[in-house]
Amino acid sequence: MCGIVGYVGGQSALDVVIAGLKRLEYRGYDSAGVAVLSDGGLAAAKKAGKLVNLEKELVDRPLPSGFTGIGHTRWATHGGPTDINAHPHLDNAGRVAVVHNGIIENFAALRAELAERGHDLVSETDTEVVAHLLAENFSSCGDLPEAMRQVCRRLEGAFTLVAVHADEPDVVVGARRNSPLVVGVGDGESFLASDVAAFIAHTRSALELGQDQVVELRRDGVTVTDFDGAPAEVRAYHVDWDASAAEKGGYDYFMLKEIAEQPKAVADTLLGRIDAEGSLTLDEVRIPASVLREADKVVIVACGTAFHAGMIAKYAIEHWTRIPCEVELASEFRYRDPILDQRTLVIAISQSGETMDTLMALRHAREQGARVLAICNTNGSTIPRESDAVLYTHAGPEVAVASTKAFLTQLVACYLVALYLGQVRGTKWGDEIRAVVRDLAKISGEVDRVLETMEPVRALARSLADKNTVLFLGRHVGYPVALEGALKLKELAYMHAEGFAAGELKHGPIALIEEDLPVVVVVPSPRGRSVLHDKIVSNIQEIRARGARTIVIAEEGDETVVPYADHLIRIPVTPTLLQPMVATVPLQVFACELATARGNEVDQPRNLAKSVTVE
Ligand code: F6R
Repeated sequence: MCGIVGYVGGQSALDVVIAGLKRLEYRGYDSAGVAVLSDGGLAAAKKAGKLVNLEKELVDRPLPSGFTGIGHTRWATHGGPTDINAHPHLDNAGRVAVVHNGIIENFAALRAELAERGHDLVSETDTEVVAHLLAENFSSCGDLPEAMRQVCRRLEGAFTLVAVHADEPDVVVGARRNSPLVVGVGDGESFLASDVAAFIAHTRSALELGQDQVVELRRDGVTVTDFDGAPAEVRAYHVDWDASAAEKGGYDYFMLKEIAEQPKAVADTLLGRIDAEGSLTLDEVRIPASVLREADKVVIVACGTAFHAGMIAKYAIEHWTRIPCEVELASEFRYRDPILDQRTLVIAISQSGETMDTLMALRHAREQGARVLAICNTNGSTIPRESDAVLYTHAGPEVAVASTKAFLTQLVACYLVALYLGQVRGTKWGDEIRAVVRDLAKISGEVDRVLETMEPVRALARSLADKNTVLFLGRHVGYPVALEGALKLKELAYMHAEGFAAGELKHGPIALIEEDLPVVVVVPSPRGRSVLHDKIVSNIQEIRARGARTIVIAEEGDETVVPYADHLIRIPVTPTLLQPMVATVPLQVFACELATARGNEVDQPRNLAKSVTVE
């Protein structure tokens, strides 16, 4: 939530910062702003709405050029999306500029205190207090990093702060607590950003800042301390993707590109984790085998799409390992006082690695003595850093707000963990594991095949653009797929979309069925657990008899559904537990096309942000 960029170097700071903000706009797009230091002092511009509004403003009223600057793209928390509430915030003398991601919980008390001392605060934000406090502290200590440390010690809540002061034109200062901030180390230039995407076009050398650290950024390097001024250790790493991975690459939307990248993302996530004999080699899971063997419960915590991946993982974990597995929305988890101990294995799933609800859930779990394994897509992010072990998904950068390729790779990672647990605990033997692994290895190609057949799905989506409601039904692993299809449609098409377990229909939701209501049904394979299949075919008949327009997603060769399908979407034959990998793809395409047909912003749906760093 909120994108932050800081730069000091030999290039035009404004150009670097604006280019960085373009790559971070997925994090929030309620307003944007920049501040640049030049010989004449500090100049700032900010505008409500998307970055393009700020760019227009900068054409009408250009800022002086300079080599040090900061920028911000906002997802509003305190105060509406107005020009005044946009960042950066300045002190009354206009010498300090600050941008912020997170929530400063004690801002009201600080604001009252500042007002008493004669400060005039003009916005409704929690951030503005920081600019005023920094100005005060700087005037007494004369050192921006020290002033920042003093301010941070007074703040409560989650924050990433980046600031400049007109009296220190070659310095950018950053601070982080519970919100992401990474440093980019270039040749004669340095960067600060919420995400490496902001500076990847300039450097792939990054430093991962830890909790409660303050960084002083200069052209020739960075100095990192804790909030008390003691030198702090930071981890250096190389970003293993390049600038092109964070660009649209000829697609109209990032979401379309990311949907198309799924076969590769799935294959990359399997890469190196299966040996020549087809067994699992998950060296990254650094939780001792003895601990995994003794675990008596698995608890999965996640939010949104990642939560749906967790729901599917539950089926795989319980089936392959026979360990009881609970899946819980991270935002609910710790507030119900869950029962956890040293024998609980908690799996935290997060694309961004920064989702505050998931982070808080994993901290709570660790406090109770549980081991935490993260499944994450973002190297260097907070969730893996605070977990006992991490299994990275290799989806590459996911820029569109709606998660697609990250979801499929989360599923792959969950299957791998489930099989690994089975291997370690002896509930799955070599041949069985190899058989599943063989099926998993085929999935990338199957997803590719699904993508090739999506034109009728797009046409169907366009034909439904004037509908108000779409329902989704599934059973077993098809139920979370139905939930995921509904979530995609809500967030992208702003339609009323609900996912139901098909067996629940008769317990209430069937009352919603009316003439021509589109209902998407995910049909399990007729092979294997055919009882599930037969039951859902009955469910399709029940809703059709009441007027529903049935959109049936079924395996190639499953002819039993044909008479009851108003629209039939075919997916490849896949083992039941792996079916979500292919069944989700048409639902992503469906939602993306419907959103486009309704004239919505596909990559940046209203009210949302990619990385949810507040609770
Ligand atoms: C939906 C979506 C969100 C995220 C959720 C968790 O398309 O993207 O529901 O899945 O906010 O985010 P991460 O995985 O970053 O923790």
